[in-house]
Amino acid sequence: MDKEVVRIGLAGFGTVGTGLAKIILENQEWIKRRIGKELVISRVLVRDLNKVRSFIPSPETKFTDNPDDLLTDPAIDIIVELIGGIEAPYTIITRALEQGKSVVTANKALLALKGNELFELATQKKAGLYYEGSVAGGVPIVQTLKESLAGNKIKSLTGILNGTANFILTEMTLRGLDFGEALRKAQEKGYAEADPTLDIEGLDAAHKLTILIRLAHGQNYPFDQLPVEGISSIQATDIALAAEFGYTLKLIAQVKEKSGYIQAGVFPALLPKDHILAKVDGPFNSILLYGNAVGPIMLYGQGAGDLPTGSAVLADIMALAKENSEPNNTGFLEASLPQAKILDPELTVYEHYFRFTVLDRPGVLSALSGVMGEYNISIAQAVQKTSPSGRSVPIVFLTHKAQLKDVHAALKEINSFSFVTAPTVHYRILS
Ligand code: NAP
Ligand code: HSE
Repeated sequence: MDKEVVRIGLAGFGTVGTGLAKIILENQEWIKRRIGKELVISRVLVRDLNKVRSFIPSPETKFTDNPDDLLTDPAIDIIVELIGGIEAPYTIITRALEQGKSVVTANKALLALKGNELFELATQKKAGLYYEGSVAGGVPIVQTLKESLAGNKIKSLTGILNGTANFILTEMTLRGLDFGEALRKAQEKGYAEADPTLDIEGLDAAHKLTILIRLAHGQNYPFDQLPVEGISSIQATDIALAAEFGYTLKLIAQVKEKSGYIQAGVFPALLPKDHILAKVDGPFNSILLYGNAVGPIMLYGQGAGDLPTGSAVLADIMALAKENSEPNNTGFLEASLPQAKILDPELTVYEHYFRFTVLDRPGVLSALSGVMGEYNISIAQAVQKTSPSGRSVPIVFLTHKAQLKDVHAALKEINSFSFVTAPTVHYRILS
């Protein structure tokens, strides 16, 4: 960008938008030293012009509630979208790219659902569409996959990508809170999305995983085909039982590449307590990946918040401001990335945790283990607990590796037994 002053049109001035503006103000000299240009937020788009703003980016900044004021201003060099949601950002980003104007966004939901189309448009218009803030907030995983590890084939990537879910599970683990109490605490601390369903049902982590699959594998994994399980039904009792066996329960986003097939999903899983990701607590995010040349790499940091996410957005703006060649948005040359060859999730293999709730009477244990044997599931550990009520008791099985389709078939059969008094709880175990 051949200019001494780079003007930004900022759509959205909430948590991340104000964080970004504060960093630009505070680090202006530092930014200039690195890119030789001044960054000025010249226009800000908000929903409510009457809202009292405690901070204004610069004396030159004009506020508006009309997207046209950003999109038709010829002085604006880069549009930064920090509104959230789908419709309004989609329109703003599309209109900006159609004019060949580069865009920075932290909108993981939009990029998961409409990314392929938007990246195609950006490539066609030779415009930048950068999104470091969209995955894991301040943790620089996008740039790491796009540039630093570009020469590697990524064999596997396992992440804790949702700070709210990780905070909730940490509170349940360390303080014995139940799910509802821990969620309320996460909301009070401001970690959760406006709609916490996205956090607790695994959808926010799934949005981020879809973006990472594109970066790591150069393939488009349709969001609606990604298997997603959340944490809203997790009970404190399973967290305590898992701990007795030496495991910690985490919400995991994972992708593996096997013989050209992509195995991916978001699900709660038991991790051995000494697993490096088991130690990631509170609202923090982390990504552990294996490249075929570099081996293991782990990134860790704040996955949300005004300054951490603002830091990622600013890095994208600076990259675009100093860019003189055509921006590379996905890390791959194709304008349209191929569809992923998806491994049927039912064929995936893990170790497993089962908690059965059963009547305490003769033959129950042998019936349960009989079904396991019938479906080729080998039991590694089995424990029966006494129950204060005395009527139903929990029995826990930990198994050796077994296919998910066998697990589902076994669960169906077991849950139909008359001695099973509540649906069986099942989690995968990662080693
Ligand atoms: P936020 O605090 O809710 O702020 C949203 C901003 O957008 C507000 O300034 C709001 O205006 C404005 N806005 C909303 N709808 C609008 C519309 N239709 N037209 C014009 N302006 C509109 O959101 P945020 O937490 O900063 O998140 C922004 C984006 O970053 C989202 O995509 C989010 O998923 C992503 N992200 C957030 C975090 C985080 O830690 N918060 C981390 C990573 C990624 P008013 O000020 O007038 O209400
Ligand atoms: N709600 C998200 C989280 C914010 O908890 O991780 C950052 O994307």
